[in-house]
Amino acid sequence: MQKTLKSHGTWIGKWTFVLAATGSAVGLGNIWGFPYKAGSEGGGAFVLLYLLCILLIGLPVMVSEILIGRRSGTSPINSMKKAAIDSNRSSSWQLVGWTGIIAGVLILSFYSVIAGLCLNYIFLSAASSGVVDAQTQFETVTQSWEGLLLWHSIFMILTLLVVSAGIKSGIERMVKILMPMLGFLLVFMVVYAILNGAFDKALSFLFSPDFSKVNSGTFLSALGQAFFSLSLGMGSIMAYGAYMPKEQKIMPTSFTVASLDTLVAIFAGLAIFPIIFAFGLEPNSGPGLVFESLQTAFNQMSYGKVGGPLFFILLSVAALSSSISLLEPGVAFLSEVGFLSRKS
Ligand code: PFF
Repeated sequence: MQKTLKSHGTWIGKWTFVLAATGSAVGLGNIWGFPYKAGSEGGGAFVLLYLLCILLIGLPVMVSEILIGRRSGTSPINSMKKAAIDSNRSSSWQLVGWTGIIAGVLILSFYSVIAGLCLNYIFLSAASSGVVDAQTQFETVTQSWEGLLLWHSIFMILTLLVVSAGIKSGIERMVKILMPMLGFLLVFMVVYAILNGAFDKALSFLFSPDFSKVNSGTFLSALGQAFFSLSLGMGSIMAYGAYMPKEQKIMPTSFTVASLDTLVAIFAGLAIFPIIFAFGLEPNSGPGLVFESLQTAFNQMSYGKVGGPLFFILLSVAALSSSISLLEPGVAFLSEVGFLSRKS
């Protein structure tokens, strides 16, 4: 099978895989999704369930995906096919690779719209005079299909540019710039929240579990969040695993990626909730949490015109490093069967 497939390159150095996989894992799911879900599902108890799901279910699945990808060094479709053939199973196991690619494209269809909103908010937040309240502004922005289409298209063009440049010149080069930038921005936001927000209140909201609020729905939501946040089940991590150097150890690497991803989600909570509480806003406003509640706070605070755009740059950077990984499994498949050509 492998003879007819065009081969891919390998990441240079072991940190490239860590950066790329963390880039895939850290995204809107951590900075937009995790805080709003924790906020709506009662805080501490959700956070605890989420951590357990990451450790007990997410981490083993991540190890398996990387293992399958690295063994064959091909796209998820061909990796699954090879794993099945090597263990005398039906080659229809490659369907798992296909469903991953389809799911990735479906996710990208809404992911790019929210990421486009983040790009738009970099400018809206910098220009906001606070005269129009953040809720009305969010409604206006989300009701304009032309605006949504424009920002979604800009975001998709950025994603396509990176993926089409290939594994080394595109993805590897991009994550080496984006990830340190993201880490720096996030630490800056947390320090800002410690100095200007109600940090104690945020700590107790995130870390004092109230189990009376837990039901089967909370568990499902925490599990879904863990899978989404670690980029599992979509072939992204399997595709990146195919470019991992053979000598790199999978267990400790997966542990590092999962820990960094979790740390970013917790830091996002610690950056957002102190500000939400300091301005007397509710943590449970759902998907609009960062666009409405947080923007309301940015409108009222002294350096909000700097903090706001910085926060939305952070979100956009995180979204870009994830969206390239959503497209990579499909692009890797098309380039190995010779349908697309790109640099390795
Ligand atoms: N993990 C990304 C996030 O938390 O935003 C989203 C994601 C990327 C999901 C890649 C799935 C995937 F394959």
